Amino acid sequence: MSSTPTILAVSGSLRDESYTRTALGYVLEAAADAGADTRLLDLREYDLPLYDPDVDDQGDGAEVKRLTREADALALGTPVYHGSYSATLKNYHDYCGWDEYEDTTVGLLATAGGGSYGSTLDHLRITVRGVHGWVLPHQVGIRKASKRFEHEPDAIDQRAFIDEKLEERTRKLGRMLTEYAFITPDVTSPRTAAND
Ligand SMILES: Cc1cc2nc3c(=O)[nH]c(=O)nc-3n(C[C@H](O)[C@H](O)[C@H](O)COP(=O)(O)O)c2cc1C
Repeated sequence: MSSTPTILAVSGSLRDESYTRTALGYVLEAAADAGADTRLLDLREYDLPLYDPDVDDQGDGAEVKRLTREADALALGTPVYHGSYSATLKNYHDYCGWDEYEDTTVGLLATAGGGSYGSTLDHLRITVRGVHGWVLPHQVGIRKASKRFEHEPDAIDQRAFIDEKLEERTRKLGRMLTEYAFITPDVTSPRTAAND
């Protein structure tokens, strides 16, 4: 195991001007500042047909799975779509199972057009738990995303956060992913194990 964690961000938005992708850029920048190797897995650049269990080696599935498996920690970002997470992210998620997520630290982020992102983050948390990812308690929800940034030429995607606290909350996700990238899975005490 390298002492430099590799952190991969995956965005569930295919939109060119995606706020989710911008926010993940801040997560990755904070992770890099904290010492991680970082990479954005931009799903617009990969051919991922709707996942079909009957078909082996669909599109770029093998490459996407390899990148996910090799990451020590993942930042999963999604727009809120109908109170849940996007089909783009779910399709990516269906390609990746236990082999990719086991022992992987996962941080969650959602951007909403309106005011509510709780169910989206909850759905993501449950499905990542299902493949044994270690989901951080800290998570980021950005409500009314189109009103949260102002134009700034030097900022990520030329978008600077208007609210310092929201920027700090977003950057904290990157720092925590770095800090807990090598989380040791052996944390269950004999007492809690008996109750499992
Ligand atoms: C199909 C669809 C469904 C959406 N459903 C919701 C929703 O249930 N609640 C909400 O607050 N915003 C909803 N939105 C708005 C997006 O969450 C919002 O615009 C988000 O910031 C887009 O992220 P992006 O810029 O990364 O693509 C929806 C947008 C689309 C396209």
